[in-house]
Amino acid sequence: MDYLTCDQVKFSYETGENGESREVLHGVSLGIRKGEFVALLGHNGSGKSTLAKHFNAMLLPSSGKVYVDGLDTMDESLKIEIRRRVGLVLQNPDNQLIASVVEEDVAFGPENLGIAPPEIRRRVDDALKAVEMYDYRLNAPYKLSGGQKQRVAIAGIIAMQPDCIVLDEPTAMLDPRGRTEVLDTIHKLNREKGITIVLITHYMDEAVGADRVVVMDDGKILTQGTPREVFSQVQLLKDHQLDVPQATELVWRLRSEGYDLPDCVLDIGECVDALEPLLKSSSGDSYVCP
Ligand SMILES: Nc1ncnc2c1ncn2[C@@H]1O[C@H](COP(=O)(O)OP(=O)(O)OP(=O)(O)O)[C@@H](O)[C@H]1O
Ligand SMILES: [Mg+2]
Repeated sequence: MDYLTCDQVKFSYETGENGESREVLHGVSLGIRKGEFVALLGHNGSGKSTLAKHFNAMLLPSSGKVYVDGLDTMDESLKIEIRRRVGLVLQNPDNQLIASVVEEDVAFGPENLGIAPPEIRRRVDDALKAVEMYDYRLNAPYKLSGGQKQRVAIAGIIAMQPDCIVLDEPTAMLDPRGRTEVLDTIHKLNREKGITIVLITHYMDEAVGADRVVVMDDGKILTQGTPREVFSQVQLLKDHQLDVPQATELVWRLRSEGYDLPDCVLDIGECVDALEPLLKSSSGDSYVCP
């Protein structure tokens, strides 16, 4: 059975005072397996954040159902249990850190769950070690870099011992180094702790490392599959104002110029492997550096 299940989820935001509403999810069905790493893509306003908030009962479907480990998010009595199992990390780390000391911030979640102090201490230390921020435990969050703050926010979620972490553009406000730190952390948590990951991102290269890519468009799922299955549909993605990874785009353009190249490459390594024979054959024996 899937860990997260959306069954024909529709959702409308109230937009006017006299009960007007606008439907922004138009029947989304999706299953995410335990331990899976899913990247959720889609252009601005396609409904990614709205869907993400359904995964931990922050929003409830107007119709259809969302289940977390079999628990119905519509059941008010299960809300705390659902929020413990599925943690949500948002774009701006400054809005997520509230305490004046890093370790107090990480302790906040487990304290709210009523966990005993010695166990909280253990969880806070473990969580900070997992995101490699243990040495900063007594620091003030405002003095940290963006990537470090985001990792502390992730530690705050890990301390609740969730099964799943949903991250809504966690790297959007970070510099390249911060992005790498956060991405590496998410992959490590998935690999080593088996935490299910749903990563919403506008960076296509971040999606390449996922087990599955789900693409949303106008409140519906446009396509989904392995990164290779999804990114080989370059024209479809372009028609919906979406990019593909740079390496994919380059090889796709050369193919459309008639060059004999593979269907879909996903990263620079594969791109080099694809282009090398071409460059060699076009310049006799001498190798031309790309
Ligand atoms: N609180 C709200 N009230 C009314 N409409 C909203 C609200 N939040 C989002 N919307 C609308 O719902 C639709 C989906 O928005 P959502 O934020 O889920 O998209 P998104 O895919 O996360 O976009 P982005 O990439 O910009 O973050 C958009 O048309 C948006 O304008
Ligand atoms: Mg969003």
